[in-house]
Amino acid sequence: MIWYPYQQMKTMPPPYSIVDAEGVYLYTRDRALIDSVSSWWSVIHGYKHPRLNAAIHRQTDQFAHVMLGGLTHAPAQQLAATLEEWLPGDLDHCFFSDSGSVAVEVALKMALQYYGNQGETQRTMVMALQHAYHGDTFKTMEVGNDEDYHFILTAYGKSPHVVHVPTTIPALEEAFAKYHRQLNCLIVEPLLQGAGGMRMYDLSFLKRARELCDHYGVLLIFDEVATGFGRTGHRFVADLVLPDILVLGKALTGGYLGHAVTVANHKVYQGFYDDDPSHALMHGPTFMGNALACSVALESIALFREEDYLSKIQRIEAITRREMAGFSHPSVKEVRILGGCVCIEVHDPALLQGYQQFAYQRGVFSRPFLQYLYAMVPYVIQEDQLVQVLDTMKAWFR
Ligand SMILES: Cc1ncc(COP(=O)(O)O)c(C=O)c1O
Repeated sequence: MIWYPYQQMKTMPPPYSIVDAEGVYLYTRDRALIDSVSSWWSVIHGYKHPRLNAAIHRQTDQFAHVMLGGLTHAPAQQLAATLEEWLPGDLDHCFFSDSGSVAVEVALKMALQYYGNQGETQRTMVMALQHAYHGDTFKTMEVGNDEDYHFILTAYGKSPHVVHVPTTIPALEEAFAKYHRQLNCLIVEPLLQGAGGMRMYDLSFLKRARELCDHYGVLLIFDEVATGFGRTGHRFVADLVLPDILVLGKALTGGYLGHAVTVANHKVYQGFYDDDPSHALMHGPTFMGNALACSVALESIALFREEDYLSKIQRIEAITRREMAGFSHPSVKEVRILGGCVCIEVHDPALLQGYQQFAYQRGVFSRPFLQYLYAMVPYVIQEDQLVQVLDTMKAWFR
């Protein structure tokens, strides 16, 4: 039997069984549902995209997977070269892995060892944001800050290796002044904190973070597993403020296969590049650089570039703002919109109980969590489909 994610198996309602999927639609035996979650925010081009399918087929005819230990191959090399050319600044060194959580682990390991390689062994601390979510592996849970996901926070108590700060500049400055000698990095989900509650914050915070990291010699990590590939309305937030390490996942493969990448700048890479073997990065997930994943990622990036996805996302944001204008209800605490993300935060999680079934009846798949009712739709959504998603969200409160 399947043990489902984030669920009490004893009480969970049966999941909807999907028999087909195409474009923005998931199909059960008796219904077509617009996927307003994009399969955990990854399926940006929609399902069964002919070009992505073809890329997978082409690669399958050659080989599906070859490890990167002592071997290499064109799809991984081409993806690294494409990212090197496409990503901003000197984010040029791509370390592949099989999931966002692992890619964040790699980023954190890089930051710790970067200083260790220089003999700065006291820099064992990570600064992260309050309400941060960076994955479900142990170090990412430790760096995360959401008790609703991570019992570790209560089971192990507060980690001495992590300090959490709110997204306000004075608090950030204060924390840097206090901890900078022990810090190796500041890690953030830039502009949009996803699983911590679709919280949006200002770019000025990131600009100041960059300045403080430079001033105190601390590495800046952007976890763009959720925000990357346009979700905030920007291609990457890294286009606006340049981090030292960038983490991408989810939409990297257009949501086709689990794959992720930790991209380091020259400075970080040079911190490992040495005659001393102990200065090497000791990491190597079995499926890193998987050829099917790299091939589909290349095609996904090509689509994103050729079909001007940023204007599609601007359109989604404009329609969302138009449709949500004037919407309010006593149950609603706040409506937040950024790029291809809209969130209705209610006062009490109980107020969203039953919403999923309500949406199902109206042809929308949704998966609210806690007090957050949100949509992160595939970018290929048509106006009437997006209006249907937003109308369903608003109708719940009528
Ligand atoms: C910001 C962020 N980082 C990391 C992860 C973990 O990615 P994965 O589920 O691929 O391990 C997620 C997943 O939602 C995420 O939103």
